[in-house]
Amino acid sequence: MRKIVAPSNENILLAAQILRNGGLVAIPTETVYGLAADASNPEAVRKIFTCKKRPADHPLIVHLHDIKQLSDWSIDIPASAYQLAKKFWPGPLTMVLKKHPNVSEIVTGEQDTIGLRIPNHPVTLALLKAFDGAVAAPSANLHCHISPTTAEHVLEELGDSVDLILDGGPCQVGIESTIINLCSKQPEILRPGMVSLEEIHTVLSQDINVRKTSSSPKVAGDMEKHYAPHRPAYLMDHAEIVIKILQLPTAAVLSIHEKPKGFEGIWLQLSNQPIQYAQQLYAMLRQADQECPECIFVEKPPQTPEWDAIYNRLIKACNN
Ligand code: TXA
Ligand code: MG
Repeated sequence: MRKIVAPSNENILLAAQILRNGGLVAIPTETVYGLAADASNPEAVRKIFTCKKRPADHPLIVHLHDIKQLSDWSIDIPASAYQLAKKFWPGPLTMVLKKHPNVSEIVTGEQDTIGLRIPNHPVTLALLKAFDGAVAAPSANLHCHISPTTAEHVLEELGDSVDLILDGGPCQVGIESTIINLCSKQPEILRPGMVSLEEIHTVLSQDINVRKTSSSPKVAGDMEKHYAPHRPAYLMDHAEIVIKILQLPTAAVLSIHEKPKGFEGIWLQLSNQPIQYAQQLYAMLRQADQECPECIFVEKPPQTPEWDAIYNRLIKACNN
């Protein structure tokens, strides 16, 4: 059977049946592709960790299709959670709440909290409705590697270990959701994403912490090397790159600038607008990794708030 399938009604029903049988389905979301299993089936969820080679203490995000499901998965839900859900769901925001006692600790990496979101992709929303439940779904890549933003990337990453890949086209956001912890005294952003601190501030009139760096394994995205290509990658200014490629003409470059005249290596130009840049980033990193025999130079993005989430991913993808 072909792994990658078009998202016809028939294939969505097939995917729902695979989930009911305890199988793994790769699903398109607006952020990145997810590797989904029935969140209420611990054996199915265990397969996710094996397939991704992910440590068991790294909690998974549970994906819902209706705000009403919040109370099936979490307890002591603060008003702020409903305010944020109303504004940003379906969308690229994950909320960490106190876990419902019925939720298996396999899903939450033995923590008493749970990450929840409603993704904004018509195919996955249709699947979740047909399945009539919730799926645990991390990004559909091998642990610490680059997240997939197309169905083909998922196949490259996971191959035969996934039962079906629903092709929902290229992801529109392109980097993982913003994660906000609502269990701490003050809300805290654990992972920046394209729902920004400023946007969250417009809904919550509270102080919000932003976690800088942490050695805690609670958030996989917090680990030093993550979202990383196989080749060494280095973050540097445009001026530095222009000098470096004279010494290393076989390097690949990701830049918002045009390729310098005379350079014959791999120069991948990304948009200078953060929304478009985020859409392109992982596909370009993947391409550089595959085509380049040497190493990858990535131009530092502008240091303004709208580039925060991108900068966060680049720091984790790069070796310096
Ligand atoms: O955009 C996304 O969030 C994508 C799509 C598929 O929804 N998913 C995703 O999942 O990025 P994953 O597993 O690659 O990253 C989820 C992050 C991990 O760093 C995990 O540690 C953190 O969410 N997380 C999940 N539950 C948590 C919890 N209870 N407390 C703290 N962090 C949590
Ligand atoms: Mg991930």
